Amino acid sequence: MYGHGRVLDDLSDSGRADAAERIDAWVRAMEEDLARGTGTDPVRRALTHAVTTWDLPTGQLPASFATYRRDAAERPGFTSWEQWHAYWHALSFPVGVTRLATLLGEATGTRLGPRDAEALRRWTDAFNLVDALRDLRQDAHLGRVALPLPVLAAHGVTLADLRTGRRTPQLHALVRELAVTAHGWLDDADGLADRHPALAASWRTLIRLQRLQLRALERGRPRSGGRRGTGRLRRALVLHTGRLHAALNWRRLGAVLTPPQGAPVPAPPPPLTPVVPRPRPAEPPLPPRPHAGGARPPAGLGDRVPRHVAIIMDGNGRWAAERGLPRPRGHAAGQSALRDVVYGALELGIPHLTLYGLSTENWKRPAAEVEEILRLLGEGADADREEVFARDVRLWWSGLPEGLPAGLLDALESTVRRTAHRRGLTLTLCVNYGGRAEITAAARKLAGDVAGGGVHPSAVTAPLFARYLHRPALPDVDLLIRTGGDHRLSNFLPWQAAYAELVFLDTLWPDLDRTGLWRAVETYARRERRFGGLGEAAAQGRIEST
Ligand code: IPE
Ligand code: IPE
Ligand code: MG
Repeated sequence: MYGHGRVLDDLSDSGRADAAERIDAWVRAMEEDLARGTGTDPVRRALTHAVTTWDLPTGQLPASFATYRRDAAERPGFTSWEQWHAYWHALSFPVGVTRLATLLGEATGTRLGPRDAEALRRWTDAFNLVDALRDLRQDAHLGRVALPLPVLAAHGVTLADLRTGRRTPQLHALVRELAVTAHGWLDDADGLADRHPALAASWRTLIRLQRLQLRALERGRPRSGGRRGTGRLRRALVLHTGRLHAALNWRRLGAVLTPPQGAPVPAPPPPLTPVVPRPRPAEPPLPPRPHAGGARPPAGLGDRVPRHVAIIMDGNGRWAAERGLPRPRGHAAGQSALRDVVYGALELGIPHLTLYGLSTENWKRPAAEVEEILRLLGEGADADREEVFARDVRLWWSGLPEGLPAGLLDALESTVRRTAHRRGLTLTLCVNYGGRAEITAAARKLAGDVAGGGVHPSAVTAPLFARYLHRPALPDVDLLIRTGGDHRLSNFLPWQAAYAELVFLDTLWPDLDRTGLWRAVETYARRERRFGGLGEAAAQGRIEST
């Protein structure tokens, strides 16, 4: 399906006068292949195979062909992001989603829910944005551009600039900004991979390929045609790892994956590319290190395990002072607490743990102390040095990069990349993080989009605003813990923790271990969350009194 979409997309993008005729020729050949149940072209044969094996509906194909044909002939100029989304969704979304939903439903018993549809929509958005950036120059020669025009204007980029193919600072800024947007959409799209293991491999591969393209674009690699510039070796590695994982997963699930009864099962098409040596799959993650005292996580919490726990790790300085040690020693002692709490989160099955490492206000402290904190954070974020990253832990980070040492940024970015495939626990480290700075930066970006005409003021809703935050995919905080005995938020996650349950512990951070986390979770599990509505008891009373 992807290959087929890709071919049509390339044909309509090709910028040739005969693009429409070439699409017609492809569509005719596709219809013949579908009627015969096989074909000579590898992409058409693969699609025919999928359609016949799984008896997929083809009713929407003609409409989709017609839209591609129209796209080749006359793509409109977009005056806003809303228009842009609407156009591409109409073009590529319904057919793909309907087919995928049917395929999954029939083959795996999985039903796509609204969250999955959103993930698919996000991926489609990212795909079209990457494509638009890739084709900027070629499109400009045709006198068009596949981006909202106000976005170009806001960056001071003109069609004439694009035609020259020169990489002006304005163009560079435009590409960087849109790459950040596309990466964010791909983060959102990742949710679909949690639905089904056999689908996950293919889905992640699609996401990785898009990210490769984006990085190439950010580095200023080709902005027209072809998939050159992404690094053939990298592409091959991503593709073949994906293919291997998909094959293994489908095989493992073979018993349940049978085509619908009675459907003809054509022989699978031969491999589309020569077989190359398979890369070794990544090492499986180690289990969490057990608790030193043998403590085990509380049982029976069921669905009351919070999805997202955030911690203000406070009290390091006082811990050191109590022992007559300099403050930095307290921060160093905090590292082992951090490790133990991460293991506790893994053992309890908490999906998201977010830790406050350095606030935007902490720069007020003596330089030597800040430096020590930054050094420890750099060590802790280094996947080669920090043992938690040998576990099923994925690192994200949140904060402003400005002012952070390059070594720390490198460690964060590289571990984020290296652990991106992990799903056990998402550990988000907040470094140079401030809630007001995060919201202000989001408002600034959004204001830019509104001023540029890309977003209409009436479209500004809470979910839209959240897309502009540092980590749009970070879910709402369920439980916020602060150690060290103070009862305040100190500018930590004001947006995400709007409805969090707060638990304050007197324990100084270096004295905490996973049992402290578990106790806080038990406290949380006993609380009633009402989100502005009525509690269980009140609701019950209301029903009984009516
Ligand atoms: C929290 O511990 C760690 C950071 C702010 C990095 P503190 O250093 O604030 O410790 P106290 O609050 O002074 O004891
Ligand atoms: C919050 O603790 C910041 C971190 C834990 C990183 P602080 O110790 O800086 O907070 P205040 O200054 O006591 O509010
Ligand atoms: Mg403090």
